[in-house]
Amino acid sequence: IKIILNFFIVVSLHALVVSVCVIRIEIQYFNPSFRARSSCICPLSSSTKEMRNVLLIVLSVCSVASVVRSGSSDGFTKLRDTETAISLLEKKLMAPEVAMVPLTLIQGAGSKGAVCLDGTLPGYHLDRGFGSGAKNWLIQLEGGGWCNNHRTCVYRKTSRRGSSNFMEKTLPFTGILSNKPPENPGLLLNYHHHGSFYKCSIALLLSTLLVAFADFFNWNRVKLRYCDGASFAGDSQDESSQIFYRGQRIWQAAMEEFLSLGMKGANQALLSGCSAGGLASILHCDEFRELLPSSTKVKCLSDAGMFLDAVDVSGGHSLRNMFQGIVTVQNLQKGLSSTCTNHLDPTSCFFPQNLVSDIKTPMFLLNTAYDSWQIQESLAPPTADPGGIWKACKSDHSQCNSSQIQFFQDFRNQMMFAVNSFSKSDQNGLFINSCFAHCQTERQDTWFAQDSPQLNGKRVAETVGDWYFDRAKNIKAIDCAYPCDKTCHNLIFE
Ligand SMILES: *[C@@H]1O[C@H](CO)[C@@H](O)[C@H](O)[C@H]1NC(C)=O
Repeated sequence: IKIILNFFIVVSLHALVVSVCVIRIEIQYFNPSFRARSSCICPLSSSTKEMRNVLLIVLSVCSVASVVRSGSSDGFTKLRDTETAISLLEKKLMAPEVAMVPLTLIQGAGSKGAVCLDGTLPGYHLDRGFGSGAKNWLIQLEGGGWCNNHRTCVYRKTSRRGSSNFMEKTLPFTGILSNKPPENPGLLLNYHHHGSFYKCSIALLLSTLLVAFADFFNWNRVKLRYCDGASFAGDSQDESSQIFYRGQRIWQAAMEEFLSLGMKGANQALLSGCSAGGLASILHCDEFRELLPSSTKVKCLSDAGMFLDAVDVSGGHSLRNMFQGIVTVQNLQKGLSSTCTNHLDPTSCFFPQNLVSDIKTPMFLLNTAYDSWQIQESLAPPTADPGGIWKACKSDHSQCNSSQIQFFQDFRNQMMFAVNSFSKSDQNGLFINSCFAHCQTERQDTWFAQDSPQLNGKRVAETVGDWYFDRAKNIKAIDCAYPCDKTCHNLIFE
C-alpha cells in the first residue's frame, strides 16, 4: 500500500511539474537567454502538446522505476551514481563560459603527404558528443580566404592559415559548435528537488529527454583547421619554393581520422563550413556522403559559401580573376567535379553556382543576399575602385546612395538566379536573408540568440534544425529585398 501511495504522490507531483515545465518551455522558446535554476531550459520542438504527452509517458515510467528502485538498497547506490553523472553534465552544459577546445594534430598525415602549405601537420578541434548525440558528427570546415599566386601563398605559410605552427592551441566553440542548449537549440531539464524518489525520476527523465529533444549541441563537434589555401581542394606542390598544396589529402587524412574516432558508426552527420569552408562543404559534400554507411543520415550545410561570378563596379571580374589564380597556382582541375569540368572551364567549376544543382546529397545554403565579404573583395575591391568612391559605402551600407544600393540589388538578383534550380529540389534548404554580413553559423549572435536574424519568425539555428531533422517540408527561406529586414546583424567595417 505504501508503495502504491508513493507511486501516486510521485505521479501527481510530476504532472504538476510538467504543466509548469511546459509553460516555462514556451517562455524559453521566445527567449533563449532565459536561464534559471529549478526550471526547464528550452526545447525547439514544434509541438508542445506532443512534448507534454512524451513527458507524461516518460514520467510515469520513471515513477514506477523510482518506486521499484527505492525498495532495494542497491537501487540507492545506482541512484547516487546517476545523480553524480547528471550534476557533472549540468555543470558542463550550463556553465556560462564558452568551451575552449584544444587543437589536435593529425599524426598520421605526414606520411600521406597531407600537410599545410609550409609542410607542417594539419589539425582539428574535437569536442566529444554525449547522451543521444554520442553517435552523431558535425564537421565544420574552417574558412579564411585563399592564396591565388606565389606571393600570397608564400606569405600564407607564415600564418595560421598556412601552418599549424601558428594556429591557436585552443578555440572557443560557439554558435553551431556550442555544447550548450541555450546557445545551440535542444532541451535540457535542470532542476533539483529534495527527496530520493523524486531525484531518481528526475535523473532518469533528464537522461531520457536528452534522447528526445536535441539538435546539435550534444553531437561530436569538430572544427577542421584550414591551412592549404584552396578550400581543401588542391593536390600539388611547388618544389623550388617548398610550398605544399595538399588540401585534398588533408581532407582525406582528416576524414580517415574522424572515421577511426567513431564517425564510421555515425547515425547522423552534417558537413558544414563557413566562407572558404562553406565552398569546401559544397566541393566535398558528395564525397562525404560516400565515406559513410548508407544507413547514416548525411547532409551538408554551406554558410556564406555562395561566391558569385559577378561583374565588379569597374565592369571587370575581380573574383573570377582571383579564382583563376587559385585554380592555376594549385593546379586544381583534377580535383574539381568532372560533371562540371566536362562542360565548363576549371575556374567556372570552382564557382558554387555551377555546382550546387548537381549535388546529390541534401544541401542547405545559408547566405546573406548582400554578402559583406563579396561586396568588399569581389564587387568593390580597391583594384576595381582606384578612386575609392565606394570606400564608405562598402564599409557601411548606410553610407550608400541610391545607385550603389541598386548595384547591390542586382547582385541579390544574381544570387536568386544562382540558387534557382538548386531550390527546385525538396531535399535542399535555403536561408537567404537581406543583410550585410558574412558567416552566420559560428557566431552566437547570428546563430541562436534572443535577437538573432530571423526569416518567417525563425532564427538560423531553428531553420537549419527544421531542415536537418525533417521537421518541416521544403524549407526555402528567402527574404524580401533590402531594406525590409529589421532583424539583421549588419557588419560595419572601420
Ligand atoms: C552615388 O555615388 C557614386 C560614387 O560617389 C556616384 O558616382 C553616383 O553618381 C552617385 N549616385 C547618385 C544617384 O547620387
